Amino acid sequence: MSKSHTKHFLSLADISKEALREILDEAHRCKKARAGLPKGAVDANTPLSGHILAMLFEKSSTRTRFSFEVGMSQLGGSSISTSSNDMQLGRGESIEDTAKVLSRFVDAIMLRANDHNSLVALAQNATVPVINGLTDYNHPCQIMADLMTLEEKGRALKNLRLCWVGDGNNVAMSFINAAAKFGYQLVISTPDGYGPSGQMVDRARGEGAHIELIHDPVKACTFADVVIADTWVSMGDTDIEQRMRDLGDWQVNDDLMEVAANDALFLHCLPAHKGEEVTASVIDGAASVVFDEAENRLHAQKAILKWCLGK
Ligand code: CP
Ligand code: NVA
Repeated sequence: MSKSHTKHFLSLADISKEALREILDEAHRCKKARAGLPKGAVDANTPLSGHILAMLFEKSSTRTRFSFEVGMSQLGGSSISTSSNDMQLGRGESIEDTAKVLSRFVDAIMLRANDHNSLVALAQNATVPVINGLTDYNHPCQIMADLMTLEEKGRALKNLRLCWVGDGNNVAMSFINAAAKFGYQLVISTPDGYGPSGQMVDRARGEGAHIELIHDPVKACTFADVVIADTWVSMGDTDIEQRMRDLGDWQVNDDLMEVAANDALFLHCLPAHKGEEVTASVIDGAASVVFDEAENRLHAQKAILKWCLGK
């Protein structure tokens, strides 16, 4: 595959709504097709047989690491996972050279990066598909799993009212990037100074996204079909005490869920900090679908891998 035709998965903003729909449909099919199989068993067809994925982590991970590794194995391929600190990258080898070298060994590369620019540089210099496993800017694989989970629970995405509560962070950004593609309404409630990039909100609105920024979390969550929280302190954030103070009123608790729709669902990408961004009563309660959401990382990413590799 020539470099210019390489299908990277870096941002939901840059992938067509048709392609994203196709990936989500394939994720549902993938999951249904292997119902009842042991987790280590390969899928009936093994489209990535003979393919190998490199996974590079600049930050910690549980779900992303395991779901990609298990996913590659179920697709008939294999993977190599490493912390970037254990590579020459950690001693100053450039991301550009790393991209060129890894492209000679593997069929696709997943990177979890501190700085989104590193991911872009990797993709610009790789001749194999590059997949975003989270950066400071966004987390597209996560949102594909989240949307899959909502559909699985019988919620059509078009006009569904999603309310993000807390820090306008990387996960929030991918919800913004996908809003116009799937047609859901997105309400974002953050303290002053924690809002998402205005430029990206404007871009999404320009593409037809329905996005409301509502400061007051109670107003924001009123009649929401889905309430979403994430940690107040993301990997790489250093101003921990300040964040705890500033975000304290943006906790998802029973009072907040009470104003949402009667059948509202609760999403959280995990890891969660009970008693901070969400109470135990909510995340362990009936509205919460967080473990289905975690499992769906596997199925959504298998569909992403197949799309990237043209399978
Ligand atoms: N949600 C998510 O990306 O989890 P990990 O940090 O464990 O990969
Ligand atoms: N916003 C969180 C997501 C973790 C999966 C972080 O970046 O740390």
